[in-house]
Amino acid sequence: MIHGPDELLNDYKSQIAVTRDEKELEQVRVALFGNSGAMTNLIKEIPGLPKEERSDRGRLLNGIKQQLEGAIAARLGELRVERLADIVETEAIDITFPGPPLGQGHLHVLTQVRRQIETVLESLGYQVELGPEVETEWYNFEALNLTAGHPARENWDSFYFTPELLLRAHTSPVQIRAMQRIKEPPIYIITPGRCYRRDAPEATRLPYFSQVEGLAIDRALTVGDMKGTLLYMIQSLYGIERKVRVRPSYFPFTEPSFEFDVTCGICNGMGCKSCRHKGWLEVGGCGMVHPQVLRNGGIDPTEWNGYAWGFGIERMAMLKHDVDDIRLFYESDLRFLEQF
Ligand code: PHE
Repeated sequence: MIHGPDELLNDYKSQIAVTRDEKELEQVRVALFGNSGAMTNLIKEIPGLPKEERSDRGRLLNGIKQQLEGAIAARLGELRVERLADIVETEAIDITFPGPPLGQGHLHVLTQVRRQIETVLESLGYQVELGPEVETEWYNFEALNLTAGHPARENWDSFYFTPELLLRAHTSPVQIRAMQRIKEPPIYIITPGRCYRRDAPEATRLPYFSQVEGLAIDRALTVGDMKGTLLYMIQSLYGIERKVRVRPSYFPFTEPSFEFDVTCGICNGMGCKSCRHKGWLEVGGCGMVHPQVLRNGGIDPTEWNGYAWGFGIERMAMLKHDVDDIRLFYESDLRFLEQF
């Protein structure tokens, strides 16, 4: 159909107005201004017109062309706004919507247990005393009555840097350091800290672990005082139904020496699989401080005496939470750690 310019203007204006997207609008533009577009064809006809009509015709078509170009540009603007509105509707973020809760960290189970132990003993008047993890051979062994060549040294198989310097194998050297620092008894201290032994990792032992040693030095202390303290500590941590017993043992730095056990929490001392039908679980070592050890710390054993104990924090945590493999504490597996 041959359009006059006015018809063409109205026809295409309405086509532009109903385009639904930029692709459709582009099709209309090509139909008008492409190589054989309607507008292009009209302009191509100009040179064939009588000379006197050409300039009027040219002006008219140019005006129409500009109107149509304007209409296309305006429609393009509208379509873009509509598309953005669509995106806002379907993809926008609702900033009032509550976000997922942030994961909150907490203290490692060993830190929790260590702090509980500290809190209980601090309530009895004990103070926390810390010492170096790299120790001299004198503090780690000699001062504790483990003289060179002493057969019991092999119970504390150690990592040496030099013949003189090693990673401490227990926290007992802090006993000596505390006596030297405080000088005047009474002394009531606990010494939490990391220890190292030349052991391969297994379910029950690791080459690195933590201990808490306790040391009390006063006048005329007895094994009963020591046992009462251990009982108070165990019952505060595990519950009032727990019992403590001490069994004769040997440590070069205590005399007499004992192992101390606590009743199994699963069978309440009756004997079950978990305590291998003994009813008791081993916790640590203890005893009355050897007079020579007091002397090595600069304390007069004719005036003062004392008791000491030591146990592993991991072992305490295992007993408290029924954990059967000590390695779990150091594997950083959140599925394990988040339980505590
Ligand atoms: N230091 C000993 C150990 O590591 C434990 C202990 C401490 C025993 C104090 C008696 C007195 O095995």
